[in-house]
Amino acid sequence: MNPSFKKKILCIGAGYVGGPTMAMIAHKCPQYKVTVVDINPDRINEWNSENLPIYEPGLYEIVQSARGKNLFFHTDVEKGIRESDIIFVSVNTPTKTFGVGAGMAADLQYWEKTARQILECSRSPKIIVEKSTLPVKTALAMERILSSANNGIHFEVLSNPEFLAEGTAVKDLENPDRVLIGSSQTPSGLKARDELVEIYSNWVPKDQIITSNIWSSELSKLVANAFLAQRISSINAISDLCEKTDADVSEVAHAIGMDARIGNRFLNASVGFGGSCFKKDILNLVYLCRNYGLTEVADYWESVVRINEYQKKRFILNMLKAMFNTLADKKICLLGFAFKADTGDTRETPALYIAEKLLEENAKLVISDPKALKNARKDLKGVSGDISYIEDPYEAAGGCHAIAVLTEWALYAELDYQRIYTSMEKPAFLFDGRNIIPHQKLYEIGFNVYPIGKPALKHF
Ligand code: UDX
Ligand code: ADP
Repeated sequence: MNPSFKKKILCIGAGYVGGPTMAMIAHKCPQYKVTVVDINPDRINEWNSENLPIYEPGLYEIVQSARGKNLFFHTDVEKGIRESDIIFVSVNTPTKTFGVGAGMAADLQYWEKTARQILECSRSPKIIVEKSTLPVKTALAMERILSSANNGIHFEVLSNPEFLAEGTAVKDLENPDRVLIGSSQTPSGLKARDELVEIYSNWVPKDQIITSNIWSSELSKLVANAFLAQRISSINAISDLCEKTDADVSEVAHAIGMDARIGNRFLNASVGFGGSCFKKDILNLVYLCRNYGLTEVADYWESVVRINEYQKKRFILNMLKAMFNTLADKKICLLGFAFKADTGDTRETPALYIAEKLLEENAKLVISDPKALKNARKDLKGVSGDISYIEDPYEAAGGCHAIAVLTEWALYAELDYQRIYTSMEKPAFLFDGRNIIPHQKLYEIGFNVYPIGKPALKHF
């Protein structure tokens, strides 16, 4: 190893968070050695190849700039722990599927295994940084595990939640709104915090690096995601009312968004939010509130998830109603399967729910997406029905009775819809679950157009 490295950083977990975050730290801080380990050898091989395991605009360039110089990916977790000074823990914390708290609480088994492994393999003091989203007070549990051996090695636990969004991870990491670091307020806690502040100071302005106590930091991550999801559920709830009253949800969003107190971002009505974080984090928050007996608070936040489920269901019912209450044997093209544009990620994607419900109606599906077909295939493996996967949107839509736009890929707004219309069964329907298609133009071509939260444009 280059002896001039200032410190050795390890990240356990080479996923959507760990991989890009460490690549950015390595890229911006050549004086640190950054190693990323994962128990999944396929993932590590991909991080070491030209085909990274996740699609993220600009990521390959960042990885390439540092890989082999001060950024390394491998599977030897124990060696990584032994050699490091600072360990970021970025393993998955999905929603528990069994036992107490099933369907609500975070499943901490991967996280706890990692804590125990750090304890077992460490021969020197270390700073442990929680990157994964965790329930409040997890740092306390981490501290308890790490101090259980009484071996004289001091571990200082920090919370440093990641706020990057998929599809814009590189931009978000390079130019974050803020970096949050929570620590205990003891001298060793503050010293560890300062070490982490020093790393981020290599590219993030000092006034955007904020510090807090460790519990506020853990809670802020859950609350940030809950507030963002709540905005989407709020505008989606209003989209339902707009459809009944001939108001237009985009006009409403524009009008309210110009109020600086409300702000204009995150007000796009849609078929529903997806992604690995929003639902999981809100349910985590709800579980926490219920644990503390805060029934009203828990019910309030749970309603954000309920509205999201309702929005997806409403989309299907609208399709069914518009298409004469029968979808059996009709061929339907899903434009987009990723949970949002510019990613191949399909975790919690509304498209999966829509696909399953359409198949239950005996519709035939043609699924199209520029980056998510591999994941779509995996998600629908074992689901019975007539499904084909075609990346080219023109070929996918050919011969279909309807199109449902489920991901806001920019390319879907610019397709030659005259050509598509000509190739479809008539009457041709288009359900725009993202409000990105030029509705009036499509109506004039001949489509029956059903946006979200706007009057439908029908020829009958
Ligand atoms: C989110 C948070 O934004 C990020 O800060 C956190 O670190 C992880 O969770 P992500 O899930 O990657 O990021 O994507 P995001 O851009 O927040 O979108 C989430 C979902 O909401 C997507 O399905 C998106 O299509 C949907 N969405 C977003 C809307 O339906 N309408 C909007 O106005 C914005
Ligand atoms: P996120 O979106 O939070 O980054 P991912 O599921 O993409 O979550 O990534 C988490 C990664 O953590 C996975 O690649 C998984 O293999 C890895 N992982 C889980 N448990 C361990 C462990 N004990 N040691 C090392 N890596 C782990």
